[in-house]
Amino acid sequence: MSTTHRAGRLRCELLVDPLAVHDDQPRLSWEPAVTPAAHQVQVASSPGALAEGRADRWDSGRVDGDACATRYAGAPVVPGDAAWWRVRVWQGTDAGEPAWSEPATWEPGLRGGWRGSWITAPPAPYARDTYRPCPLLRGLLDLPAAPTRARLYVTALGLVRASVNGRVLGAGRLRPGWTDYTQRVQYDAHDVTALLQPGENAVGLVLGEGWYSGHFGIDPRRANWGPHPQARAHLAVECEDGTSVVFATDGSWRWSYGPILTSDLLQGESYDARQEQPGWDAPGFAAGGWSPVVEAEDRPVAIVAPRAEPTAACQELEPVAVTEPVFSTYVVDFGQNLVGWCRLKVDVAEGTEIVVRHGEALHPDGTVYTANLRAATSVERYVARGGGEETFEPSFTLHGFRYVEITGIQAPYDPTQPPRLPPSTVTAVVVHAAMEEAGSFACSDDLVNRIHANSLWSLRGNFVEVPTDCPQRNERFGWLGDARIFSRTACFLYDAQAFFTKWLEDARLGRTPDGFFPDFAPWVGPAAVEGGPGWSDAGVFVPWLLYETYADEAVLEESFDSMAAFVDAVHAANPSLLREHRNGMSWGDWLSLPEANPDEGRGGGMIIDSVHSTTDKVLFATAFFARSAELLGRAAGVLGRRPEEERYLALGEAIRSAWVKAYVRDDGTLLGDTQTAYALALCFDLVPDDLRPAMGASLARAVERAGHLTTGITGTELLLPALTAAGRLDLAYMLLLHRGYPSWGYTIDHGATTVWERWDGWTEEGGFQDIRMNSFNHYALGSEAAWIHEVVGGLGFDPSVPGERRLVVHPRPGGGITWAKARHRTTVGWAEVAWRLDGERLHVEVDVPPGATAIVVLPDRQEEAGPGRHTLEA
Ligand code: BGC
Repeated sequence: MSTTHRAGRLRCELLVDPLAVHDDQPRLSWEPAVTPAAHQVQVASSPGALAEGRADRWDSGRVDGDACATRYAGAPVVPGDAAWWRVRVWQGTDAGEPAWSEPATWEPGLRGGWRGSWITAPPAPYARDTYRPCPLLRGLLDLPAAPTRARLYVTALGLVRASVNGRVLGAGRLRPGWTDYTQRVQYDAHDVTALLQPGENAVGLVLGEGWYSGHFGIDPRRANWGPHPQARAHLAVECEDGTSVVFATDGSWRWSYGPILTSDLLQGESYDARQEQPGWDAPGFAAGGWSPVVEAEDRPVAIVAPRAEPTAACQELEPVAVTEPVFSTYVVDFGQNLVGWCRLKVDVAEGTEIVVRHGEALHPDGTVYTANLRAATSVERYVARGGGEETFEPSFTLHGFRYVEITGIQAPYDPTQPPRLPPSTVTAVVVHAAMEEAGSFACSDDLVNRIHANSLWSLRGNFVEVPTDCPQRNERFGWLGDARIFSRTACFLYDAQAFFTKWLEDARLGRTPDGFFPDFAPWVGPAAVEGGPGWSDAGVFVPWLLYETYADEAVLEESFDSMAAFVDAVHAANPSLLREHRNGMSWGDWLSLPEANPDEGRGGGMIIDSVHSTTDKVLFATAFFARSAELLGRAAGVLGRRPEEERYLALGEAIRSAWVKAYVRDDGTLLGDTQTAYALALCFDLVPDDLRPAMGASLARAVERAGHLTTGITGTELLLPALTAAGRLDLAYMLLLHRGYPSWGYTIDHGATTVWERWDGWTEEGGFQDIRMNSFNHYALGSEAAWIHEVVGGLGFDPSVPGERRLVVHPRPGGGITWAKARHRTTVGWAEVAWRLDGERLHVEVDVPPGATAIVVLPDRQEEAGPGRHTLEA
């Protein structure tokens, strides 16, 4: 039977057929398609050898067990070579020979073997507000014969778009992505065999400023890492006649300015199509007026293989409406707040300048509101070539927008006609990390569907190179707190394993010398400073989440020392175990609402800052300290490090006791009496079992007293799970479905199509919030989607069985919802739960993927379920 079920989704180091893998023993993983009882991996030096079963690099032989990943254990594959591999999986009862998967491949990339030098155009004088056009760099190489194998490796300090003989390479945008360029920069590897020819060939590189040298950050400074971008490329070619050619960036390359007059992540792009130089990156181009490039000094920066999917154009949206609030000023509504840019398609006279301004909201008069973008102007200017239809997309910028204002297109005036901009003029291109979707949810309640969709769209908008707080204003940092809060939800929606793995490395590299994780990563600025509690703790929480979700022990191995150094550093600064010191900016329960706290103003030794956190900051910090110590102990256990396991679990215990002693009052309430404090107590298991009912009751009282949530970004993640654990599903649904201020419903009733940074981003009374901090696309308050999947959808997972191989199917209807459906891709395949209420009866359909089991919890009973489809009723 298994012969028809081939394992699929083959990954090497979490990526599909990567051409740059620096690990000599890379991780190979697959989805089994049958309940795995054994597997065999074969690795060969060519697809032909593999097809014949000649595993000349490595043959694992039959390995019993249910593993769906292994490490390559053959001889290292050397640069210039490739590995081809396949896997087969035996099913428990399978006596016969299962079928092999389709083949997959990986290559070791270039590693340290870069030839040539960093090149750029001669630096223009640098000033805060002066820009220079994006240089085009052109190199020519002659090949003696047709290529049989050619790889182009490209990197940049800044951004680069590479082409060979006129063909742009790769689907990735904003390459080579974002890292701390003082420490490392990624590179891309392209198979260009089919693009090269005997004789003359051209390689083209367009350089953009990006994070490296453009405006970036809260400040927003220019040139955070260097004054101007530079690139490096290495092309390795083997030809039919046996010759090998290496061609790299060096002083022989020539440069010229091109049509991109300015380009900046925050400010947008200006493009003059009349400055295009057709054929500049192809052979035979007359580059007479071009000048020699400048070779830059060699940089000590490490050039590393990418570990995650690139940022890419993932989807397109067409306008849902076009208006003309001011004569000849068109406002296009895409119906969805998104991140990316617009593609223009116009047929206008030569020299026509079209200006596109991006914004997330509208003024009451229908014009585009941009004040909350702060110093990010987010404007594209396009000057037309003329003479027929032309299309334009920017190359090196990114905007957060639902609306664009377009000016400069003149059309004959006819007051009897609706707005005269044909909607086909503009398409929104949605850009984010090209991760695979891993989950979906739908139910009978439109509000809940929209709440879920808002989290999904905020994920899309903010998973760009690193998990950012916001995508539109001058900031866009990889805040650790926000990312930690949203990480569980993210893993329900997308396969975020590679994305987070890459970013965790940014976080480790951003630490203080004594081991504190920073507030955001990559760190931008002078010496790193310790992050606030709950922010810095992401360095422990996120690796643990990846272990639970993806059975990823490698991330624990890779992170362990940094996790331990961090907990040790917090401990050293706080020997009393109450985390009072080295708390950085101590954000606390950031953006919680003041009415949470009946003790406010009454003092009592509390640190209260009602704007930022109504929960006591030491209570908050110590809760995270306890949890981080415990997770570290558990990680030590997974890695078989017994002494550390004992030590850190004991430390976690001791911190918990100190926390209880300091904060639990005799009447079973907590200092401050805030929703978040109780949610922390319940979700982080801070109180002994006999106190849990009291904490649950206090939490319920705090919610009933306010009539709404009062939590900030940290408490909001924990609130619905805590109420559920406390047996108050009714209150969890009340909060989910609430439409008054503050609630998700309130934002949606006021037009939110992504998660707002603040519950009062816009209110009837006050209009727009303070422009200094008012993003409309901030996933931090969007972490409820994990709860929606687990509780409303009824599809959760037992965290003690890593890799989501044990489903907890537990639909908990409430709030008048009559049906729901949740899907999720686990490490062993898709799981699905669909339930509906038929009067009093609950019908549940469950799909358990092969290799997983399920516990199905129904109102009247619990049942075990194995792989396959099950229909149950209660
Ligand atoms: C960000 C937050 C972040 C915070 C630190 C803000 O500017 O947008 O989401 O966590 O700073 O508290």
